[in-house]
Amino acid sequence: MGEDLGEDISRARDLLARARRVVVLTGAGISAESGVPTFRGEEGLWKTYRAEDLATPEAFARDPLLVWEWYAWRRDHMSRCLPNAGHVALAKFALGRAAETPASGPTGVISPVVLVTQNVDGLHERAARDASGPSGPAPALPLELHGSIFRDRCSRCGRSTPADAPIDASRLETLPRCGSCGALMRPAVVWFGEALEAAVLARAFAAARAADVCLVVGTSALVHPAASVPIATLQGGGVVLEVNPEETPLSDLAAVSIRGNAGDALPALLAREGLRR
Ligand code: OAD
Repeated sequence: MGEDLGEDISRARDLLARARRVVVLTGAGISAESGVPTFRGEEGLWKTYRAEDLATPEAFARDPLLVWEWYAWRRDHMSRCLPNAGHVALAKFALGRAAETPASGPTGVISPVVLVTQNVDGLHERAARDASGPSGPAPALPLELHGSIFRDRCSRCGRSTPADAPIDASRLETLPRCGSCGALMRPAVVWFGEALEAAVLARAFAAARAADVCLVVGTSALVHPAASVPIATLQGGGVVLEVNPEETPLSDLAAVSIRGNAGDALPALLAREGLRR
């Protein structure tokens, strides 16, 4: 790691060490090193696929087979990917900070580290469960702003169920159907033109406003309301730290921008956290 990067990391580490509350916002870039494609950039999904054909309610109404084919392929691919060193470092960081905080507070108190993700790949959750272990403390689960590819939701009655089985999207008859009302299930992800789940959004913004530091990792920061999470931290008097190999619209607002990959930068940034006090 270069000298400048080392300096940025040490400045960012100081800010984190002083922070009582941290909100983390992640995007597709954190999963790039796990083999999950990002959306924008040279190799991004939106270079090859048209969002309006695949990721809108209108596309699903028009051609559910095509939409399911795309999501079945992505679900299958994501189920084979593993959390990388960036996911693991964040999971251990959240767990470590939670362990330092007395558990006796009233319900509803914001955790010391709140992880907010735009990703639907479930990799933060897997890293959190691995970090906690089978008999350890409750894992620090992420707030999934854009839903999860490992859940289905009924297109009529809204019933939602966990779903990780492969889907045969070759015929309408083999697409998943609602166990309650029989209508077609759809992936429980947020599509273009749809609102984010209000309760999840409210928790994310409450955490962001209360945070001393918002650590933003691997997002182009172009899609709102997710990209406004760090703005809420700034408005609440906190600072923004960014980890991204590329510049983004947030870079100028960040106290420190670490120009590196999440899989290298996050372990370097968070590794010595446990020794900070
Ligand atoms: P993008 O594909 O827009 O941006 C990915 C970001 O990750 C870019 O800024 C890259 O520079 C950065 N990046 C790439 N490799 C990285 C690495 N190894 N470590 C750290 N950063 C890296 O993805 P998002 O910002 O997540 O929405 O996109 C936001 C939303 O747009 C997605 O949630 C999705 C999409 O349309 C929905 O599907 C609703």
